[in-house]
Amino acid sequence: MSSDLSSRIFSLADFDPAARELMPHAVYEYVASAAGDELTLRENEAAFDRIKIRPRVLRDVARPDASITLFGETLAHPILLAPIAYQRMFQPEGEIAASRGAGEAGAIFILSTAGTASVEECVAASAAPVWFLHYWQSDRGFNGDLVARVNASGAKALCVTVDTPVLGDRRRQFRAGFGIPEEMATPHLYDRNAGLREVASQQRAILTWPDVAWLRSLTTLPFVLKGILDPDDAARAIDVGADAIIVSNHGARNLDTLPASIEALPTIAERVGGRVPILIDGGLRRGTDVLKALALGATAVLIGRPYVYALAVGGAEGVVHCVNLLRQELERAMALTGRASIAEIDRTLIW
Ligand code: FNR
Ligand code: LAC
Repeated sequence: MSSDLSSRIFSLADFDPAARELMPHAVYEYVASAAGDELTLRENEAAFDRIKIRPRVLRDVARPDASITLFGETLAHPILLAPIAYQRMFQPEGEIAASRGAGEAGAIFILSTAGTASVEECVAASAAPVWFLHYWQSDRGFNGDLVARVNASGAKALCVTVDTPVLGDRRRQFRAGFGIPEEMATPHLYDRNAGLREVASQQRAILTWPDVAWLRSLTTLPFVLKGILDPDDAARAIDVGADAIIVSNHGARNLDTLPASIEALPTIAERVGGRVPILIDGGLRRGTDVLKALALGATAVLIGRPYVYALAVGGAEGVVHCVNLLRQELERAMALTGRASIAEIDRTLIW
């Protein structure tokens, strides 16, 4: 399988058409689509395309070292796998295969509350750290119990999605007649099989800052808020005890005409001023995109759709190939810009 993949998949973009052939149309549409007219979806990638790189020459870049330290842990590279719901729709083993592949590639896997495997199973499957992504649910007590479960699971961080009080206008998904298969168990959702309906429910309790402070008080794990685009919210996140933030527009799936997440990064980095690590996701498809994100203030990056397609195409091995490709592209881009280590990547790298 892996030799087969490496002879036909040469970039992250190659996974998309390969997966499209294999996935049921409505499932592909669920993954690929975004909100509204998908202007932000296009911008997430186009904004990276517009940024140019300033290389430096004649430095010793024989062995570019992409390793970083995050929450005291040394990671071989700064690539994480974003939380993605319902992964058994993409591959029979779903999150188990994805977390196993993440572990083999040295990538942190972030399990969604709407995942189809348990946090304990993913921790057992991965040789690398697993983080849990908390989706706020209507039953307050259930939220508390879920954090307690995560605390005991071996997961290495608790993330909370803060950008989804309601679901976005997902037209393509609805046109394609997408629905979560009834039999798809979601062990961390209160309404066990309600799936997207729970996340989308109008009765769903709205998460606000005091709730976030309460969640913070329930764990000693590193606490990460995902979905921040405004510097004031970034500052407030630090005030309530966030140990890191994820700059994200939810893969453009919530509100159309938001800026690309890479456009939001510089002013947030300025306000955060190095107090906590900043992660970013949305439209990262190449090693040079990772380089640009790090240059503009990110400590690490998350990829979403590309690894879903990789999972559909090649299971755990597909995920390994996906992360390895991106890591190799990053290391090559570091060598070609004269940066031997991540610490040498800063604003001077932007043209
Ligand atoms: C997501 N995303 C997401 N985010 C989250 O906080 N909880 C979730 O359950 C999900 N589920 C989900 C499903 C699918 C199919 C997609 C494509 C995305 C958003 C995800 O974590 C991430 O922010 C984006 O996917 C990053 O953008 P790219 O890399 O897909 O462009
Ligand atoms: C999505 C939700 C589940 O983006 O986060 O599909």
